[in-house]
Amino acid sequence: MPRPLARAADFCTRYGLEMPVLMAPMAGTSPPALAAAVANAGGMGACGALPLSASAIAEWVARFRQQSAGAFQINLWVPDAPAARDAGGEAAQARFLASFGPEPTPPDNGPLLEDFDAQFAALLQAAPPVASTIMGLFRSDQVSALKARGISWFATATTLDEARAAQAAGAEAIIAQGAEAGGHRGCFAPGDAPRASVGTLALVPAIADAVSVPVIAAGGIGDGRGVAAVLALGASAAMIGTALLRTPEADITPAWADALARARPEDTTLTRAFSGRTARALRNAFTEAADHPAAPPPAPYPVQRHLTDPMRRAAIEAQNFDHLYALSGQAAALARTDPAGETVARFWQDARRLLA
Ligand SMILES: Cc1cc2nc3c(=O)[nH]c(=O)nc-3n(C[C@H](O)[C@H](O)[C@H](O)COP(=O)(O)O)c2cc1C
Repeated sequence: MPRPLARAADFCTRYGLEMPVLMAPMAGTSPPALAAAVANAGGMGACGALPLSASAIAEWVARFRQQSAGAFQINLWVPDAPAARDAGGEAAQARFLASFGPEPTPPDNGPLLEDFDAQFAALLQAAPPVASTIMGLFRSDQVSALKARGISWFATATTLDEARAAQAAGAEAIIAQGAEAGGHRGCFAPGDAPRASVGTLALVPAIADAVSVPVIAAGGIGDGRGVAAVLALGASAAMIGTALLRTPEADITPAWADALARARPEDTTLTRAFSGRTARALRNAFTEAADHPAAPPPAPYPVQRHLTDPMRRAAIEAQNFDHLYALSGQAAALARTDPAGETVARFWQDARRLLA
């Protein structure tokens, strides 16, 4: 068997998969039906649990298990140090945002995110086959708790240093997130995003050569050619985000789905304007205005996310692409509207043919 296929087969055996294709965890866009469709096709489903409370995580898992006995991961964002607050800057940002939607009110000093430890406790209780992280690493007590329950840990890395640190901390696989990826850059330090935006083609073989655990490639994989390419580069599996967004199970808002279909590779941008953390999204009137040198700088994550919430909701209500939070990778135009199970099955069939 050619080496890339043998490596992928080992990964599949280890995680009970029929194909080395993983749904990417996507906060706000990981309905159980999408995860179940991928798992039922023989891949791995995913839950982007960032916005979910402990009880919502339990509910997500129950709904997934009603639809699939297959493999899945629950993904958590490791929190940054608390954001420094700046009343003047936030007020300027709120005035700026009033040109694009209802004027937001800067949040008070209470928590702006779900409690990470409570989310982790819910994850342990739900006992998924895999827990994954982005933006940082689990603490050693958390790694021990996962191991005690037989839950594997996959850690997202955007650089060699992050990959090595993740392996040293006990991660059983590294998700190498290339710069093409839709959604937030997973770099551990928010300020590292510009330096840590390395393309998948360069990142995957570098990490595969540097660590001894399996590598899962993410970023810009939109069909079987992409799956074959990352396996040839040293990955054991491919993770797919944007290419699943137009499937019926993803059920995203129509203005976003339509824009993905039209997007050229050059139509995305890395921006802090929506959340305060660097993310890849489709370029639109809002991202262009926020990028202008005269625009006030975004507040840190998650304050900026809170500030843009009214604009983002209004854009969905009005189906107004100009102000829409349309996360997207650079291979968006490859996304098709076929059911998710058929999509990943086609990816794997094409990749196998290319690698045979
Ligand atoms: C809408 C959306 C939301 C995302 N949310 C998360 C998340 O919550 N956690 C995470 O680890 N990665 C998240 N990502 C990144 C994906 O897990 C993955 O790295 C990326 O989708 C791969 O690149 P691709 O979109 O080109 O396939 C998100 C991506 C998208 C498109």
